[in-house]
Amino acid sequence: MKIVTAVAPVNIAVIKYWGKRDETLILPINDSISCTLATDFMCAKTTIMASPTFTDNKFWLNNEEVDFNNKRLNNCLTEVKKRASPKCADLLNWKIHICSENNFPTAAGLASSAAGYACLVSTLAALYEVEGDISSIARRGSGSACRSIHGGFVWWQKGVQPGGEDSVAVQIAPASHWPEMRMIILVVSDDQKKYSSTSGMKTSVETSELLKYRSEMVVPKRVKEMVEAIKTRNFENFARITMQDSNQFHAVCLDTYPPCFYMNDVSRSVVELVHSYNKYKGATKVAYTCDAGPNVCLYLLEESIDEVVTLINDVFPSSVGPSEYFRGLPVNIKNRGGLQEVLKIKADAPGSLKYIIHTKLGDGPKLSTEKSQHLLTEKGLPH
Ligand code: DP6
Repeated sequence: MKIVTAVAPVNIAVIKYWGKRDETLILPINDSISCTLATDFMCAKTTIMASPTFTDNKFWLNNEEVDFNNKRLNNCLTEVKKRASPKCADLLNWKIHICSENNFPTAAGLASSAAGYACLVSTLAALYEVEGDISSIARRGSGSACRSIHGGFVWWQKGVQPGGEDSVAVQIAPASHWPEMRMIILVVSDDQKKYSSTSGMKTSVETSELLKYRSEMVVPKRVKEMVEAIKTRNFENFARITMQDSNQFHAVCLDTYPPCFYMNDVSRSVVELVHSYNKYKGATKVAYTCDAGPNVCLYLLEESIDEVVTLINDVFPSSVGPSEYFRGLPVNIKNRGGLQEVLKIKADAPGSLKYIIHTKLGDGPKLSTEKSQHLLTEKGLPH
């Protein structure tokens, strides 16, 4: 019997991946760049056990048994097994039990597939003792998952080979390169039906001319500028490109036929708030970015956290207690900071934000050997 456990981080793109040139291999039409978040507040955790006594492969996800017969999961498993160490020959014939969970509510609509597949592939790679780059395997689970294989600032290079061998994620700089960088995730209340990223981007590739222009003419230049901004820790440029790229991604969604709407009125109010704040400061102090949902992620430096969270708290009053509303790293807020009046922003109805997570950059997936960390018992069942 062999058992391994790993935790893997979430990543938030600052140059978005949107559109595939190969649906099965999950090869993108453009490069993307993201930041990896610390696993303290948001992460996926997976335990995998292989045993000669197991009769079936089994998979539990967030406390529920789910069908093992899932194409993306099996693509990852096949790829990992192809690269297994010769030492693991016996193991390849054993059935496996997988147990996986997220430490943040999936109901919040926060991208969990990136952390989930990065975690699954890291755990599988440890089980079968795979050497070398595994980002191209995680990519087969969910495109954005390949970026969660590294910590800090990560660049997914689209590659040119038809088999996707060169479509890999590489680290631009580790988390320690820019320790002042902070993120605030604004979890927006929303009961709208979601269009999945997978089907949304497929329709965009089929119908949006703007996406073609974006991937060929805009992203290559932006990627260069973003790498430079990260390497030189130029926050102004980092923030401007992040916002422009988020806006262009949502413009592509609108240019898709039929269109996909991901941002809502609350997301748009946050965008306006950020621009008013930056104007008032006379400098770009905060950036926003939204993925395929209404939640907003703000990028800012540590020095701005207290003032910005105070403003958000005044504009978006909570309908829950402070310990539920403010999650993650501590914040020092004043009630009624006064900036809301100066910027002439009307307060939203209480509860339009569910909660706020204050977090920072972090490292890539980590294995844990401690027995108490495993999600499966010695019999291979969830605790
Ligand atoms: C908007 O990685 O979830 O978050 O490859 O089909 O699984 P699949 O899509 P996914 O798409 C993420 C899209 C995005 C932008 C990004 O993270 O770059």
